[in-house]
Amino acid sequence: MANNDYDPTAEGAETNFAARMSYSDYLRLETILSAQHPLSDAHDEMLFIVQHQASELWMRLAIHELGAARDAIARDAVAPAMKMLARVSRIFEQLNSAWDVLRTMTPSEYTHFRAKLGQSSGFQSRQYRLIEYVLGNRNPAMLKPHAHDAEATRLLERELTIPSLYDEVLRLGNRKGLAIPRSVLERDVRETHRLNDAVVEAWRCVYEAPETHWLLYELAEKLVDFEDYFRRWRFNHVTTVERIIGFKRGTGGTGGVSYLKRMLEVELFPELWRVRTVL
Ligand code: HEM
Repeated sequence: MANNDYDPTAEGAETNFAARMSYSDYLRLETILSAQHPLSDAHDEMLFIVQHQASELWMRLAIHELGAARDAIARDAVAPAMKMLARVSRIFEQLNSAWDVLRTMTPSEYTHFRAKLGQSSGFQSRQYRLIEYVLGNRNPAMLKPHAHDAEATRLLERELTIPSLYDEVLRLGNRKGLAIPRSVLERDVRETHRLNDAVVEAWRCVYEAPETHWLLYELAEKLVDFEDYFRRWRFNHVTTVERIIGFKRGTGGTGGVSYLKRMLEVELFPELWRVRTVL
């Protein structure tokens, strides 16, 4: 029998979903696949929408993993946390590859629908801002674009009241015997953690004797790995943006490429980068 005549019901494939939950029911595909509403007739607008929506879905998973990793670290469950962090790095690797699809859109094609976006921009992505806040890049000015959205504001404000992932890592380090200063352990978590020489020194002890501090050493490398992928995401974004809109202002109102280049300077785990210089 030719393959295309093969009927999988012969081996038991279920085909009657009148009274059963199907693939599409479980995944709510009707909701997801009916959420693409281009505002123009431009062919490329669908790419633009799907690319953003897919990125938001991956961010949703990243938030799920990062939150659980932070909770696990707070309970000294470092091994499961490392597994989750490894997954988040892979998510960002995935998001990095996704730019290749968007880069197939030329500046000419983008101009066909850019005006339809109005003032909307990824700058207003609440999930992106939440990821930055969870990681410890906590600029309260970034709450402003969400002022009209009570739920987003509540979520982001709440995040600013709890220690960041890196705060929890430093607290863990302290419990494991690293000399983390009190000023760092008891800092105002609403603010971004700033480079601290004593913390560099603490990580130096770890990196100079990995076998003595294996768990912290491995965890530190997982964080560096993740920030490495995140930096690549920022870089891919700004390069794609320059390729598509040059130095035009962003739809969100910032200087565009100049703003995004500034964001390349963000350091999430500053001491883990600085320790390399003193080894
Ligand atoms: C044609 C493609 C794109 C262009 C031209 C573009 C342009 C820009 C610009 C100019 C900004 C600065 C804020 C502003 O003034 O608007 C920005 C921010 C941002 N964009 Fe995009 N973008 C593109 C694709 C994407 C995609 C696919 C995502 C994925 C979700 C994304 C997520 C973000 C985020 C999260 C920010 C805020 C970054 C931060 O505050 O550090 N962008 N984008």
